[in-house]
Amino acid sequence: MKKDYPKNSLRRRESKLEAPLQASGVMLFTDFQRTYSKCPHRPFQDCPTATKIWNLCFGKTLLFCHRKTDMTAKHSEPQLQAWNISEDDFPEKGSLVEKLQFMLGYAILAPSSHNTQPWIFKIVGNAVELYADRTRALPVVDPDDRELAISCGAALFHLQLAMHHFGYEYRTELLPDPLDRDLLARVTVSGKTEQKEDALFYAITKRRTNRLPFEEREVSGKLLSSLMAIAQKHHAWLDVVQGDSKNAVADLISEGDRTQMSDKRFRRELASWIHPNRSQSRDGMPGYAHGITDDIASYIGPFLVRTFDIGRGQAAKDRQLAAGSPVLAVLGTDADRPVDWINAGQAIAEILLRARAEDVWASFMNQPIEVPDLRPRLRDALGRKSGLPQLLVRMGYGSEIKPTPRRQVGDVLAD
Ligand SMILES: Cc1cc2nc3c(=O)[nH]c(=O)nc-3n(C[C@H](O)[C@H](O)[C@H](O)COP(=O)(O)O)c2cc1C
Repeated sequence: MKKDYPKNSLRRRESKLEAPLQASGVMLFTDFQRTYSKCPHRPFQDCPTATKIWNLCFGKTLLFCHRKTDMTAKHSEPQLQAWNISEDDFPEKGSLVEKLQFMLGYAILAPSSHNTQPWIFKIVGNAVELYADRTRALPVVDPDDRELAISCGAALFHLQLAMHHFGYEYRTELLPDPLDRDLLARVTVSGKTEQKEDALFYAITKRRTNRLPFEEREVSGKLLSSLMAIAQKHHAWLDVVQGDSKNAVADLISEGDRTQMSDKRFRRELASWIHPNRSQSRDGMPGYAHGITDDIASYIGPFLVRTFDIGRGQAAKDRQLAAGSPVLAVLGTDADRPVDWINAGQAIAEILLRARAEDVWASFMNQPIEVPDLRPRLRDALGRKSGLPQLLVRMGYGSEIKPTPRRQVGDVLAD
């Protein structure tokens, strides 16, 4: 049915443009396919015509791009509603179970690799148990479930922060059952004090992985020192990459991109977690999270990632992003056991929230850690003789972006 928008409204003008733009998007894509299938150039970046059409689809040259994703909208989409959580809705008069369920609403906003959200929670008496959901593992990029455990560690930190904020005292045990390695943590409520004001807690709903280029503005040494202290508190270390080492690390990131993208299995796995902007999926990464704000282009993204080795283009882009970021930092641990991964997850969650509380954004560039041959070379570039890099992040000031989908607490709560 044709919608009747008010005369001269932006939406009316957009709706008039919608059909021709959708048609032109399809035509551009058909042109791209036709050109690419005929031309002798492989990969397609070597073909000037195909590259031009690609740029038209994805580059800044697309002037009449379809309705942009609105970054400032209230989160009315069902898959984003988890981000609307507010402390005002805390069930003050509810049971402990209801309160714990409410606080889990903050745990599920934690970052996770490919936004797999690989966690399950169980409320047992006055404790919350956190389990690894290995059905959400990423066997190609993360064969040992290392990043899976880090992601769960991040959710664990969010949960404890919410408990602290709402005035609960608690005791946390990591890997409490030697016979059940999926049980990563148990957090037992042990008392109640008054509610706390904490900037870290308020940063939970403001945090996102921001992959856009950052401003040149420096991040203060004071903030960086506090991030390093946070890492130490969680039995980890944070090395800020300085001087020439920054270029060396940026080179490793681009080498990692080329290696990963040349692997069909890696591309297939990644593509299966990338969704069109308008998808209602409650996990995975919408195109806009990777800077594809155009809705039509976001439909083609997963196909392109799955089909073409875009490693060279990605490597060049990431190298520039990394070298141009005000801060490149590596979080590491002294050993590489599940307990170290959970600690690293708690550390990164607190680091990201502390940074966000100071208006600083971050995103991950873990390629040199995920490609096994590059991990020791990254450690060498840091000038370390021992220890294991766990995560590589870039940080800086930048513009606001939209959050990514989340499942609801009910979806991740076991009976
Ligand atoms: C352990 C871990 C590894 C990650 N690795 C990468 C990465 O290599 N590249 C990247 O762009 N994002 C990476 N991310 C970010 C996730 O893709 C992101 O957290 C997820 O899509 C949810 O989005 P959000 O952080 O904006 O809530 C990683 C996150 C975690 C926790």
